[in-house]
Amino acid sequence: MAAMLETDGLVAGYEPGLPIVRGASIRVEPQEIVVILGPNGAGKSSLIKAIAGLVPISGGAVRLAGVEITRVPAHRMVQAGLAFVPQTENVFPLLSVQDNLRVSAGGLPRADTAARIEEMFALFPDLARQRRLMAGSLSGGQRQMLAAARALIVRPRVLMLDEPSAGLSPRFVEMVFARLAEIRRGGVTVVLVEQNARAALAIGDRAYVLVEGRVAHEAPAATLWDDPVVAELYLGQRSDGGR
Ligand SMILES: Nc1ncnc2c1ncn2[C@@H]1O[C@H](COP(=O)(O)OP(=O)(O)O)[C@@H](O)[C@H]1O
Ligand SMILES: [Mg+2]
Repeated sequence: MAAMLETDGLVAGYEPGLPIVRGASIRVEPQEIVVILGPNGAGKSSLIKAIAGLVPISGGAVRLAGVEITRVPAHRMVQAGLAFVPQTENVFPLLSVQDNLRVSAGGLPRADTAARIEEMFALFPDLARQRRLMAGSLSGGQRQMLAAARALIVRPRVLMLDEPSAGLSPRFVEMVFARLAEIRRGGVTVVLVEQNARAALAIGDRAYVLVEGRVAHEAPAATLWDDPVVAELYLGQRSDGGR
């Protein structure tokens, strides 16, 4: 069976002749949560941005449910079934919560928009309570929820998020990740780039470790944490010194 999302020897970068992603191959099965870990500067963000059509691809291929989407421009990715939540600047701070959702639902028939917004408020009750507040006044955790809701409102098959827990207090990290588990139960396939390896591996099914633009390691999330190879790669990176 075709993977839900697959990259095959993907090469991508910002300038010609300077690849940042250097032949990365990952495979994400339907309804999996796959975590992408790796040291700072490994190319994690560049990899998912390239998949999303935001970084030029010079080699390899991206397929979604068996359909090639390599070099599909970012604004066409929603149609292809792929949603991407960048790490920062992922909401319009001066618009209300509900207007942020309205803007994201822009491509949908008008009659569907209100219903989809209510669907998002059912999934994220905190946002429902704050629907009239400006997005810029939300807490960091709630802002990440809004960013996820903006991506989910168009019902993507695959949701990719870049470090949704960055800068959040532990309570909000837990909340965001619990929501992601619920989103997966709703049938969405999730790709999660994270620095917070421990929390991400707790909800993930499998993980890839990216080093210098290539996959250095792949393992079930449950065993990766205790893997000595990974411990070596992460030496000095674990915030809690292991368990
Ligand atoms: N917009 C950009 N233009 C040029 N180089 C970039 C840009 N964004 C990231 N890079 C470079 O790509 C490399 C990988 O960065 P990134 O994908 O952000 O890594 P990670 O997310 O794993 O920390 C770094 O050397 C970084 O300097
Ligand atoms: Mg990054």
